[in-house]
Amino acid sequence: MQIAVIPGDGIGPEVTTAALAVLRAASQVFGRRMAIETLPWGADHFLATGITIPGDGYAQLRQFDAVFVGALGDPRVPDNRHARDILLGTRFELDLYVNHRPIRLLDERLCPLKNRTPADVNFVVFRENTEGLYVGVGGRFKAGTPDEVAIQEEVNTYKGVHRILRHAFEYARATGRTRLCMADKSNAMTDGHALWQRVFAEIATQYAGVQARHVYIDALALFLVQDPSQFDVIVTNNLFGDIITDLGAALQGGLGLAASGNLHPGRTSMFEPVHGSAPPLAGRNIANPVGAILSAAMMLEYLGARDEAAAIESAVERAVRDRQGTPDIGGTLGTRETGDYVAGLLRRS
Ligand code: NAD
Ligand code: IPM
Ligand code: MN
Repeated sequence: MQIAVIPGDGIGPEVTTAALAVLRAASQVFGRRMAIETLPWGADHFLATGITIPGDGYAQLRQFDAVFVGALGDPRVPDNRHARDILLGTRFELDLYVNHRPIRLLDERLCPLKNRTPADVNFVVFRENTEGLYVGVGGRFKAGTPDEVAIQEEVNTYKGVHRILRHAFEYARATGRTRLCMADKSNAMTDGHALWQRVFAEIATQYAGVQARHVYIDALALFLVQDPSQFDVIVTNNLFGDIITDLGAALQGGLGLAASGNLHPGRTSMFEPVHGSAPPLAGRNIANPVGAILSAAMMLEYLGARDEAAAIESAVERAVRDRQGTPDIGGTLGTRETGDYVAGLLRRS
């Protein structure tokens, strides 16, 4: 399999190095060849060349089986232009409409809620990934003056809403995670989210075995903290999905543990930890690489390497339970050493 790797900014290169050490170990143990090509795109490259992503960048990415990203975002690029082109641009241009973000507590001690076990925090968020408030439709008039007008439109299309809801229902049916919750803000966004209501009602009738439930996004934030065990599958729009998955990451023990896949089933897809470039942690070998490692496992699973993915997941679980990790999970290892530890578990398995 051919994989493009964009280590990116801040802690991105460090967590990527750790994830690649684990991928290499999986490749050796299971004997499946992986060809890795590293692309230099990120803040340094942009500041040195003025190029965020080359003109044929998305076409280049489409030549690979999958893309792995560390993180993008750098205080030296305050308008985040390079991250918009590289990260959001790839989501849009490769039409990666499913942002699949599993939330799974690996060890009871990591949950910030009282008396919650791994059985209570185990759900999947499907975030719509190609429209909503992220499309960049809008503009600023009289910018920088007291008369400034700033407009940024939310785009919801029948096709976009339909395909993410359909994906969530299909996943619920296929995996037996039968409680599906759609979250929107249709009480205030009475046009845009009326479309979500309409399509949700339409699709729900086609999945008799799935318990379909609607909650408003503000109430979802409340319920996730009060009792996360009531959720199996959550599906929501782009911005709400972004916010709720950081909340989900907190429930599993922190941003360093959360994984994601940006998918267009059947096509080249992109995998990345949920966290960003975490500038305060960068260059210190203290960032938790588990989110990156689990994202790499999701990538292998997507590419059909199920045994490798399962082996990585169980090695990570064991390492986390044994506190063989970074300080945020109560360990004393560095980023690199955590990657090597998980790789070592794979080699001994
Ligand atoms: P962030 O996710 O980078 O970090 C927030 C906090 O979470 C950190 O200060 C740290 O305490 C903790 N954290 C994050 N990753 C961790 C890890 N691997 N191990 C341990 N702790 C970890 O979010 P932010 O500070 O809001 O954003 C920083 C930059 O990253 C911004 O430029 C932002 O736009 C960008 N960003 C990029 C992505 C991405 O590339 N997918 C995602 C989110 C934010
Ligand atoms: C994420 C990030 C991105 C997003 C940022 C960096 C634009 O927060 O992947 O969760 O909002 O989608
Ligand atoms: Mn986010």
